[in-house]
Amino acid sequence: MADQASPEPAYVTDALIAEDIEAYLALHQHKGLLRFITCGSVDDGKSTLIGRLLYDSKMIFEDQLAALEADSKRVGTQGQEIDFALLVDGLAAEREQGITIDVAYRFFSTEKRKFIVADTPGHEQYTRNMVTGASTADLAVILIDARKGVLVQTRRHSYLAHLLGIRHLVLAVNKMDLVDYDQATFDKIVEDYGHFARSIGIEAFTAIPISGFKGDNITQAPSANTPWYGGSSLIHHLETVEIANEADQAGPLRLAVQWVNRPNLDFRGFAGLIAEGTVKPGDAVRVVPSGKTSTVARIVTLDGDLDEAVAGQSVTLTLADEIDCSRGDVIAAADAPPEAADQFEAALVWMSDEPLIPGRGYWLKLATQTVNATVHEPKYEVNVNTMEHLAVKTLALNAIGVAEVTTDKPIVFEPYETSRQLGGFILVDKLTNATVAAGMIHFSLRRAQNVHWQALEISREQHARLKNQKPAVLWFTGLSGSGKSTIANLVEKKLHRMNRHTFLLDGDNVRHGLNKDLGFTEADRIENIRRVGEVAKLMADAGLIVITAFISPFRAEREMVRKMLPEGEFVEVHIDTPLALAEARDVKGLYKKARAGELKNFTGIDSPYQEPERPEIRIDTTAMTPEQAADLIVDKVVG
Ligand code: ADX
Repeated sequence: MADQASPEPAYVTDALIAEDIEAYLALHQHKGLLRFITCGSVDDGKSTLIGRLLYDSKMIFEDQLAALEADSKRVGTQGQEIDFALLVDGLAAEREQGITIDVAYRFFSTEKRKFIVADTPGHEQYTRNMVTGASTADLAVILIDARKGVLVQTRRHSYLAHLLGIRHLVLAVNKMDLVDYDQATFDKIVEDYGHFARSIGIEAFTAIPISGFKGDNITQAPSANTPWYGGSSLIHHLETVEIANEADQAGPLRLAVQWVNRPNLDFRGFAGLIAEGTVKPGDAVRVVPSGKTSTVARIVTLDGDLDEAVAGQSVTLTLADEIDCSRGDVIAAADAPPEAADQFEAALVWMSDEPLIPGRGYWLKLATQTVNATVHEPKYEVNVNTMEHLAVKTLALNAIGVAEVTTDKPIVFEPYETSRQLGGFILVDKLTNATVAAGMIHFSLRRAQNVHWQALEISREQHARLKNQKPAVLWFTGLSGSGKSTIANLVEKKLHRMNRHTFLLDGDNVRHGLNKDLGFTEADRIENIRRVGEVAKLMADAGLIVITAFISPFRAEREMVRKMLPEGEFVEVHIDTPLALAEARDVKGLYKKARAGELKNFTGIDSPYQEPERPEIRIDTTAMTPEQAADLIVDKVVG
């Protein structure tokens, strides 16, 4: 079908497969691996192009390789003719059935390299899929239909590829056969794209005129139809472009410690992937964030010790000195350590149906570190079709924005631009464990570097000792009208009578002062609880027994406050009153208003209440009086 000289097996090794499968596999094992993505809409000819690459490279699929490995005699299938049209049909059908809604990874190989191509769907609703495919890719092939030129999709995909740190972009101007291989058409598209690319900071790209269908400039260049083209064929370009690992080896050493290997007292090794740089025994290293220094004693692998290890390898290092180092730490070149900070600006791609809730705690996972993080209200969202910046309060599914992120302890990182491994992170919902966002760190904020914790000279223990009590936070939670304030007041009176130093924080009161700027949206309630949590913590530090009475409807924020306090000091008290009963009482007449639609976002009516799963104390108000409830609580706390 290709109307050019048939791609004679410069990179096809069928003969070797037939003769010596072991040698063939060994050859493949040591070839470099290039990961790339193809983007463009279905119409741009993506399936055809991928089909063409697989076809012309005689297709070594991963599963076929595995089969070959399993049974080296079952050779020969490789040499069979594959019908190109059938192959493309198959790829297109998969897409229609939705199989490629997730990212489809395909493996093929030439004599020089192995390739994994991530075929990502092009529509805007699949942005998150493209992000998944692109986050590990070295190169992106951006397909353009020569008849249509640069489209909105072309811009969106290029922006995403650039955002995700793909260093090599190929502009594949496809369907050249349908524009009579016209050089002017090609040149115009390259010029248009160049303008756009520079505007978003893409410094270089490689443009190739191709026909996926006819095979022009796929394996050999120039094709007889484009004598005016002076560059390489697509496959040649893919075979020679620099692979990320090769580039990463140039930077200073970074090894994110995955685990500490201590089989006996004589051996302590730090295992992990070398994200950047190279390492040799004798190299001076620094453990970040602690800053402790030592030198590398040995580089241990399953196949024996190494004289040198480079980016992309997983190794175990032993150090000359006994210094503290554990999972999440980064072992770095002593004279060029990465930063550690607890506040930074990042680009976020939101990947969950549930929008971002500013102020809520999410798990942030970066390399081998996991910390609690909150995202501030976004600075802006990027309209990925027009590149405009929009003012927003949150990020919804597939939105891309920029926001500040705060973590509860410093993390070791580098800007994503410098290191994908140490600059890229994900956010995980604490309750569902779903990945809700992918993030790319821009830079740390000054505040994190320059505001230090002031060491206080009178400790919380000394405060508590003077008051002769153990501090605690009795955290009441329950529906409006459940009886929180009534019981909390009784508890405080009883404790006071017992000479305990207490303080009661009540929702209705705090909302008149400290939190008078907050309403009842989900985000405002989260901020309400966050502030109350911080205040309660300070009061507990001062040695008080703090009692709080807030609906505090969300588990995540109650858990957040629990984690702010020392083990055992947070006592969750669920004032468990059925909605029907609270509504029947309706002390403040608010349920009536809510039912009439005059009060929006009312807890239990049109705003959720998440019951505690394992509260320290549960008060069933249908089974006891407020007095009895208060006695029970006081008993548990000081009894
Ligand atoms: S919380 O959800 O943020 O914890 P908080 O305990 O501070 O709520 O305030 C709840 C009190 O505010 C209720 O007892 C009620 O008096 C009043 N209120 C006014 N509007 C609402 C509403 N939409 N939902 C719940 N309570 C409301």
